[in-house]
Amino acid sequence: MAFTNVAMMVAAALVVVASTARAAAPATPAAAASGAPSVPAGPLDITKLGAKGDGKTDSTKAILQAWKNACSATGTQKIVIPKGNYLTGALDLTGPCTSSIIIRLDGNLLGTGDLNAYKKNWIEIMRVDNFAINGRGTIDGQGPLVWKHNQCAKNYNCKILPNSLVLDYVTNAQIRGVTLLNSKFFQMNIYECKNVLVEKVTITAPEDSPNTDGIHIGDSTNITIKATTIGTGDDCISLGPGSKSIKIQGVRCGPGHGISVGSLGRYKDEKDVEDVTVTDTTLVGTTNGLRIKSYEDSKSALKARKFLYDGVTMDNVSYPIIIDQKYCPNNICVKSGASKVAVSDIVFKNIHGTSNTPEAVTFKCPSNLPCQGVQLINVDIKYNRPGNTTMAVCHNAVGKSSGVAKALACI
Ligand SMILES: *[C@@H]1O[C@H](CO)[C@@H](O)[C@H](O)[C@H]1NC(C)=O
Ligand SMILES: *[C@@H]1O[C@H](CO)[C@@H](O)[C@H](O)[C@H]1NC(C)=O
Ligand SMILES: *[C@@H]1O[C@H](CO)[C@@H](O)[C@H](O)[C@H]1NC(C)=O
Repeated sequence: MAFTNVAMMVAAALVVVASTARAAAPATPAAAASGAPSVPAGPLDITKLGAKGDGKTDSTKAILQAWKNACSATGTQKIVIPKGNYLTGALDLTGPCTSSIIIRLDGNLLGTGDLNAYKKNWIEIMRVDNFAINGRGTIDGQGPLVWKHNQCAKNYNCKILPNSLVLDYVTNAQIRGVTLLNSKFFQMNIYECKNVLVEKVTITAPEDSPNTDGIHIGDSTNITIKATTIGTGDDCISLGPGSKSIKIQGVRCGPGHGISVGSLGRYKDEKDVEDVTVTDTTLVGTTNGLRIKSYEDSKSALKARKFLYDGVTMDNVSYPIIIDQKYCPNNICVKSGASKVAVSDIVFKNIHGTSNTPEAVTFKCPSNLPCQGVQLINVDIKYNRPGNTTMAVCHNAVGKSSGVAKALACI
């Protein structure tokens, strides 16, 4: 009996040690080096696991195996995708993992055009803590093979094609250096995540490609998008309900539909959007610039508040500054519906450049719930056709203007 008790105590002690080590999972390679000893992983170079960079061989299994090897090890593990073109179907890279994982992407991943190879998304990182993708490689959704199957312009409840890079329930992640090209649907989708940095990423799709939003964020906190170039067929960046503490800095957007908050209010019980800053950003030839949009007949009450847009250059943007609370695509709204989306504390500061329509400033706020605390400070947007001036169209917006030409100073 005594022997059993000692054995049990040892076992219990080991459990404590193991769970302590896991709780203190190192966030950085440096921390890993000084932390608990690593459990070595199986091979992590996908070409050692059967992947072939010939653009034809299906490398899905090899990448899933590399993920399994990395995820079940401890310490920091680096999956290597060397130069080459690797064709794959759905890559469900799921945690929780006992390690911190870095994917070094030097090659190009090609998402197969066979839609049967996907359930919902292409590359989906799910329930992972401490994760990074870096390198100079490309995540190529091969959208041109399937865009013709996108019916969303005709049918609002359309079948959605696979998104390229999806982060679900991920904390402490970095996406750096890589290129996202020609996604089938959204290029990047960040959902229920915390502490994510997207830096020096290039996102590219043609202006006329359907629903190729650059980066969509929803129900996530502390997301930074920095020094990133986005040209695409839909919103460059869109912030859905539940986006909090979002920093967009040094982004170049165009072509595309601009940097949008919304659409808000389509579904019941959406969460607030708050603390958004957009700084040192340039929009070139986009249809909208800085946009907030909500459904005319929003389903339940929510707030969009504390946004600061500071230092934004507009170059030939059709609607540079726009709050549109009468949004209603495909006329799916009940027109009599009163808005429940409260917009407040929205500051547009140091915004300069040119507009491709006379309407440089548009505030269409609901009469039952006017926009509060809207500020235009040092805003100067010129019409890009000579001999004409820009104007503001303002309904139900309360706030103040300073350092703004009379024609735009509508509040
Ligand atoms: C926000 O995320 C960044 C990583 O992008 C991290 O360095 C920082 O500590 C986070 N801030 C908070 C308050 O968690
Ligand atoms: C402005 O953008 C429109 C497309 O939105 C384009 O047709 C036009 O040529 C551009 N004008 C300038 C001056 O770049
Ligand atoms: C100037 O702007 C007004 C609207 O403000 C528009 O009706 C008119 O066509 C514009 N003229 C030119 C030359 O673009």
